[in-house]
Amino acid sequence: MRRAVLAGLGHCVPDKVLSNAHLEAMMDTSDEWIRQRTGICERRISVPGQAASDLAIVAAREAVERAGVAAESLDLVVCGTVTGDMPFPSTACFVQAGIGATKAGAFDVGAACAGFIYSLAIGSAFVESGQAETVLVIGVDVLTKFVDWGDRSTAVLFGDGAGAAVLRPGEGDRGVIKTVLLSDGNGAPHIDFQVGGSRYPHGSPEAQGRRPAVAMNGAEVYRFAVRAMGDACLRVLAEAGLQPSDVDLFVPHQANLRIIRASQERLGLTDDRVFVNVQHYGNTSGGSIPLALYEAERSGRLKPGALVLTVGFGAGLVWGANLIRW
Ligand code: UT7
Repeated sequence: MRRAVLAGLGHCVPDKVLSNAHLEAMMDTSDEWIRQRTGICERRISVPGQAASDLAIVAAREAVERAGVAAESLDLVVCGTVTGDMPFPSTACFVQAGIGATKAGAFDVGAACAGFIYSLAIGSAFVESGQAETVLVIGVDVLTKFVDWGDRSTAVLFGDGAGAAVLRPGEGDRGVIKTVLLSDGNGAPHIDFQVGGSRYPHGSPEAQGRRPAVAMNGAEVYRFAVRAMGDACLRVLAEAGLQPSDVDLFVPHQANLRIIRASQERLGLTDDRVFVNVQHYGNTSGGSIPLALYEAERSGRLKPGALVLTVGFGAGLVWGANLIRW
């Protein structure tokens, strides 16, 4: 069977570091609370004027270069983001123009923190079906531009970042083996950003009294995440006829170390088979999984032939997992 191989990865994070100590000076929080509850020590923050596509373009150029393909050969640019440059056009179009992907279609995928999981599923389906030869898949978010810095329960969690992967048709058993995508729109109120869409347009009477910022019921999202991550992982493995013990590297969405450890425990995986970088970047939403894959590969923890399990969850509610033979 024809499969989509991740032929080259790229990444980009802003230079500006915001540590827990910085946050202590900004709001009523502590390094101890943030580390204990989330595992986060620092995060990267985009500066004014630095938009999602600015990060995505750098990540995309690196992925294209590492894959050894020309930007003009890309058939499709799929960008998982919920913090795009503008409501429209899509951020994928800014990337398409920015890297010179002159023959590619381009669109965004709105699946919040599961943006890369969803985008990879779409991109790999295009490659598997033969509708595309070369696809650029991106996960990017700049959520720090959308948080209320007066709300300590959300402001400490997020960071900005992008990751990208070029997909090419593979031979043998390498590539994306299986994907599960799931959703429950009844959980929409648990994490949202309400203002600026057609329900509550900016400056409209309907938007009066609504905070233009990320709002989250942390405890509810936590409970959902622990259940959903484990469920999606077990399901994608079962559909592929594999066991948790077959997984060489588990690369979960980097939202909270406690959520990662709970999923790891459910799968019975030892620490050496779990990739964690949430301490450096916080929750970069759509950027989190491709950034983690990038760092895992660069640090030698992702070897050819390894079975990689990625899983993500986010606003929607949405969740899903990809199983990849590296
Ligand atoms: O990609 C999806 C994004 N969302 C998530 O992944 C979020 C999932 N949820 C979580 O990660 C956790 O629920 C949080 C990290 C957000 C919160 O951890 P928690 O253990 O559920 O804490 P809590 O919300 O139950 O709050 C415990 C206490 C509260 O004080 P009281 O009421 O017990 O006096 C909060 O006011 O901690 C307080 N608190 C803080 N204290 C210091 C909340 N935020 C902070 C803070 N610093 N930043």
